Amino acid sequence: MEKQRADSATLLLVDDEPINIKVFGAFLSEYFDVLVSTSGEHALQLAKGNNKPDLILLDVMMPGMDGYQVIARLKADPDTHDIPVVFVTALSDDADEERGLKLGAVDYIYKPCNLSILLARVRIQLELQRSRVWLEDQNAFLEAELERRQQENQQVQLQLLQSEKLAAIGQLAAGVAHEINNPVGFVNSNLNTLKTYIGDLLGVLDTYQKLAGDPKQVEQARQEIQKLRQQKDIDFLCKDIPDLIDESLDGLSRVRNIVASLKDFSHVGDNKWEMADIHQGLDSTLNIIWNELKYHCTVTKDYGDLPPVYCQISQLNQVFMNLLINAAQAIKGKGEISIRTWQTGREVNIEISDTGEGVAPEHLNRLFEPFFTTKPVGKGTGLGLPISQNIAKAHGGRIEVASIVGQGTTFRVVLPIEPTSVTRENEEP
Ligand SMILES: Nc1ncnc2c1ncn2[C@@H]1O[C@H](COP(=O)(O)OP(=O)(O)O)[C@@H](O)[C@H]1O
Ligand SMILES: [Mg+2]
Repeated sequence: MEKQRADSATLLLVDDEPINIKVFGAFLSEYFDVLVSTSGEHALQLAKGNNKPDLILLDVMMPGMDGYQVIARLKADPDTHDIPVVFVTALSDDADEERGLKLGAVDYIYKPCNLSILLARVRIQLELQRSRVWLEDQNAFLEAELERRQQENQQVQLQLLQSEKLAAIGQLAAGVAHEINNPVGFVNSNLNTLKTYIGDLLGVLDTYQKLAGDPKQVEQARQEIQKLRQQKDIDFLCKDIPDLIDESLDGLSRVRNIVASLKDFSHVGDNKWEMADIHQGLDSTLNIIWNELKYHCTVTKDYGDLPPVYCQISQLNQVFMNLLINAAQAIKGKGEISIRTWQTGREVNIEISDTGEGVAPEHLNRLFEPFFTTKPVGKGTGLGLPISQNIAKAHGGRIEVASIVGQGTTFRVVLPIEPTSVTRENEEP
């Protein structure tokens, strides 16, 4: 009766009565592969064998190991733990049934029984088992999928942080290039002027040489010198030369400052924890972003007495830069940025205020949300403040904000001076 065997499952039939095995076995093998056993010990071997059964029909009363013992052993073994067990028994006492169910049986069938009912109940159990396995597979699949998505998310977050940094660096590079170009431009032009001046002076010097030569030509040389001095405006040259040199030296020292600030600011690849000077960090950062501020902001500094602070200064510079650039961007038209620092107890406070447009009250508690921005696409990423808040937290500190629409905004960074448990934790490699 091949047509009936669509179920394609293996049953293990356990009964000490050969007649039961014969009747049930003959009937069930029309539908399933049937393994048979007349003892508990042998049944356990078959259950762990190569052809593992999908369902076990287990007699309760057997000599030697009885059905309760068999099911206890099956459930204790991870190999056979999952195989559903149906008790097939002549006992029909509620207490016995309860005992079997407590041990993990999925159903009870009473002997003697109607074979079609037996078949129906076996099929139900097999179907349930398949659904259980399917659900477990689905669960495992979903868990793996969840894990994969979480990793993907983390990857995306990292990439975004990276691109925020790159964008900031790009913006800075443009500003810094401008700051360096300016002095390089006028130093270059000064050098060209000096070259002409020196040519003129050398001409006059040549003529002076003649004074020391033939006495007959002295008078002529004197007149020539007089003429040259007027022609080339030597008096002006002599006054202008020191100015040009001073101006050039000044320009070069500006370039040197910017380069030093860049080095300070970035601490190239160096995130070490150290006792550092917050004011130096602020000044370097200001130098770097000066180009973003100088046209429309005046900056006032009110630095208090601050001790060195245990920090990663290049990270703090990143925070100062984010706050200062936000301040500058909040100022439409002209305005003022004030930087104030002071110490309270064992903490330092760094406050950056602007006279910009302020923050709408409904936005105030969203500022530190990643990707929250009110700026147009391309200008704002909404990552500056969350990154800054994270840096402050990694230092055992915090950033607070207060704002009045139309008047301005104040960000305050509060940091512990000495190493704390938080900073120590973040120090671990
Ligand atoms: N000084 C400030 N004045 C007014 N609004 C500010 C100021 N700083 C930040 N904001 C608001 O917070 C938002 C988030 O800032 P931020 O995280 O630095 O991202 P982004 O500057 O890229 O928008 C800004 O879009 C702006 O709306
Ligand atoms: Mg910003």
